[in-house]
Amino acid sequence: MAERIKVTVGVAGGIAAYKAVEVVRQLQDAGFDPHVVMTEAAEKFVQPLTFAAITGHKVISSLWSEDAGASGGEVSGIEHINEAQTTAALVVVPATADILAKFAHGLADDFLTTMYLASNAPVVVAPAMNVVMWQHPATQANLEILRKRGVTIVEPNSGYLACGMVGGGRLAEESAVVAAVAEVLASTTAGERSDLEGQTILITAGGTREPIDPVRFIGNRSSGKMGYALAAKARCRGARVILISAPTALPAPEGCELVPVTTAEEMRTAALARLREASIVIMAAAVSDYRVTEAATQKLKREGPRVLQLEPTADILQEITHERRPETMVVGFAAETENVLTNGRAKLARKGVDALVVNDVSGSETGFDSDRNAGWFLTPEDTKEFAVSSKAAMADRILDEVVRLRSTHGRAVTGRR
Ligand SMILES: Cc1cc2nc3c(=O)[nH]c(=O)nc-3n(C[C@H](O)[C@H](O)[C@H](O)COP(=O)(O)O)c2cc1C
Repeated sequence: MAERIKVTVGVAGGIAAYKAVEVVRQLQDAGFDPHVVMTEAAEKFVQPLTFAAITGHKVISSLWSEDAGASGGEVSGIEHINEAQTTAALVVVPATADILAKFAHGLADDFLTTMYLASNAPVVVAPAMNVVMWQHPATQANLEILRKRGVTIVEPNSGYLACGMVGGGRLAEESAVVAAVAEVLASTTAGERSDLEGQTILITAGGTREPIDPVRFIGNRSSGKMGYALAAKARCRGARVILISAPTALPAPEGCELVPVTTAEEMRTAALARLREASIVIMAAAVSDYRVTEAATQKLKREGPRVLQLEPTADILQEITHERRPETMVVGFAAETENVLTNGRAKLARKGVDALVVNDVSGSETGFDSDRNAGWFLTPEDTKEFAVSSKAAMADRILDEVVRLRSTHGRAVTGRR
């Protein structure tokens, strides 16, 4: 059996500490090897013995235990340093207002807080507290510091709280905490992979703009976040990345060759010009289907009703699938608001692409301008569902599928049509 990944579960002193028992159990079900660290306050709520019995590991709660200076671990003989450096991730559940404050400001007065400072592992916190504590500007400011530092925050739910109040601050579902741990570990491991080395990936991103006059345009709600996440992840995994980008508010991902464009026609020209360099093409841009037949050369004035005549733009995805080299793989994107899978399957067949990522953009939680996304990865043979995750994590999953397709089919999954 493959060795299980060690994850440290920090349990702090909140009323939801008992729920950490279920998180530990679910982490085990998910194939991890949880080790538990408790604060002194947490021990008032749950006995360390409970965690020791479930995990089969000693529970650490004091900086000053007998083992503190002589654990004899491979990395260091100092217990908190050893724990900090041998764990793949630290997840704190429940994260009290106190722990969030200590993490944010670098206090290190017990084992958990000292370990946090001594570790480079990704950190996930699942806050739980009374709604007033949760909403307090101090707590929110501390969360913002942690968020900016790259700590993953599993947002609490709203509902009935143990203090008798109703509101935000109730610990997220245990499964959501486990999913967050799996997600940060998936993206960290992907960062260490180089399974796209030797590939040149051409990615389109953002929403094109079709001018109406010199100051106005027809645009769409695409933020470019999904395409940029794909570019950043593909680069991390060793690919050379050509990113053809319609306007976005995003910084250029490091190490990518950025080709800025504005209109659908500019995107088409740039994509076709660079196509022969690419072994994989991922078309994540939201390209306008129509443009104004004759854009005004001067700013239009308000002078009663006006009719804009529109004409269709070129179908870039279709052209790319026709013009590609036989060994170049093409992945398209479809944003749908109804009959998502049926429309996605029809587009997959119509466009002759090797795979299609379909997003349901009708909701507010995922899709356009959100940091999260969900959808399906369709190939002629298979339908894979991607549950809601960050766009970065979804980018990794899409690239996992691309790598898998290349290894099982060479380039051609569907062949040129
Ligand atoms: C009965 C009881 C319940 C508590 N529940 C919470 C809680 O849900 N969230 C929280 O942030 N603090 C809660 N506290 C306050 C913390 O226990 C307190 O701030 C403590 O210093 C936290 O220590 P720690 O962060 O080191 O675990 C509670 C205190 C008591 C007495």
